[in-house]
Amino acid sequence: MSAYSPIDAPPHVLELLSALHRKSLEQEAALSETGKAVSTALLAELREKHNDGAQAVFDELMLDKLIALDEDKCRFTYQLINAMGATNIVEAGTGYGVSTIYLALAVAKTKAATGKPGVVIATEKEAEKARIARKHWAQCGANVENQIDLREGDILETLKSGLPEQVDLLLLDIWAPLALPTLEIVKPRLRHGAVILIDNPISAAEGYADLLAYLRNPENGFRNITLPYTNGFEMSVYMPQTAQ
Ligand SMILES: C[S@@+](CC[C@H](N)C(=O)[O-])C[C@H]1O[C@@H](n2cnc3c(N)ncnc32)[C@H](O)[C@@H]1O
Repeated sequence: MSAYSPIDAPPHVLELLSALHRKSLEQEAALSETGKAVSTALLAELREKHNDGAQAVFDELMLDKLIALDEDKCRFTYQLINAMGATNIVEAGTGYGVSTIYLALAVAKTKAATGKPGVVIATEKEAEKARIARKHWAQCGANVENQIDLREGDILETLKSGLPEQVDLLLLDIWAPLALPTLEIVKPRLRHGAVILIDNPISAAEGYADLLAYLRNPENGFRNITLPYTNGFEMSVYMPQTAQ
């Protein structure tokens, strides 16, 4: 990882982030021969052994795993939020809250610079992960903790109400089958120029087939680029047609 980091945060936050990324990579290396855990690939492997029980085995296996968004992707996301002046963010899949820390740091910075209100809406279905995520945010301090509204439970329920009028950015870092249904819930609130970021669009292309087909159909209003990070990082910009 380059020594040039854009992240503006106190040393104890930077140290926590480095430690969490390190732990996440160690866990992923133990899970997968490629060194990177991809939910759809892991599920497919488990289906060969467990058929219908695969999802339950997968959920159990993932309980103590961070599966954090890669550090370089987190740094890019932080830069992008600052560049966009974004303050209303939805994160699909919070886990132990690593990427959320970057979202919160960037939103805090933008809010302070612009005076705009804003929030990071985080989502996690596992109570224990949510508990530890809150602990990590408390370790970071009020500047991070106070930006986050964590919705515990199934994302397809917890995002149904209480979204900001205008969402600037949606980070999709959740099991692939949930990505398109989540986008459909958030889409009515996306502002013109809102950004959707999707982890692993290359390695999880099969799992994301419905989502990628939807985003790449120009009628749906998105313009897309796959950024060349490991396994890809999709950046889709919402620019619905308006009368000229
Ligand atoms: C890849 S991890 C998120 C990692 C996190 N973004 C980070 O960088 O630290 C995906 C998370 O989505 C959660 N998840 C899976 N299904 C969910 C659902 N239906 N509702 C909410 N969260 C869900 C999983 O428990 C898991 O913690």
